[in-house]
Amino acid sequence: MAILNILRYPDARLHKVAASVTVFDEGLRKLVRDMAETMYAAPGVGLAATQVDVHKRVIVIDVSDRRDSLVTLVNPEIVEHHGESDIEEGCLSVPGIYDLVPRAERVKVRAYDADGKAFTLEAQGLLAVCIQHEMDHLEGKVFVEYLSQLKQTRVRAKLAKQLRKSA
Ligand code: NI
Repeated sequence: MAILNILRYPDARLHKVAASVTVFDEGLRKLVRDMAETMYAAPGVGLAATQVDVHKRVIVIDVSDRRDSLVTLVNPEIVEHHGESDIEEGCLSVPGIYDLVPRAERVKVRAYDADGKAFTLEAQGLLAVCIQHEMDHLEGKVFVEYLSQLKQTRVRAKLAKQLRKSA
């Protein structure tokens, strides 16, 4: 397995739209394993392939406290959504920034696992928010882009300052 490099906002590659997975092979399963290892090491609760500069519709999520409930979503599609969430979210590509953006409280998702088996998942709360957040990544959208221009300017300034500090 390998820890992959996570792109940092505002990297332009985060705006690429991911392509559907058509081949469920060992290469895909290796990508999923590496993404999971990268997410757990970060540590984070979700990671989209876009964030590691692989532009395929692949997501890994684990919102459990024990970090033993990995969810892999390939070619996910939201088929139902209900309610309004009030959970603040963050992102491994936008470290240190947390905010509330419009999300459904519950979603029903259709997806494939890494072996190409189709399944349906009903999620609520943090898992539902995480699924919507990661699916946005596949469309080239980062959560801070829902915020006001003023807040986005502040986010960029804060991230630039973080980079200078770590340099
Ligand atoms: Ni994210």
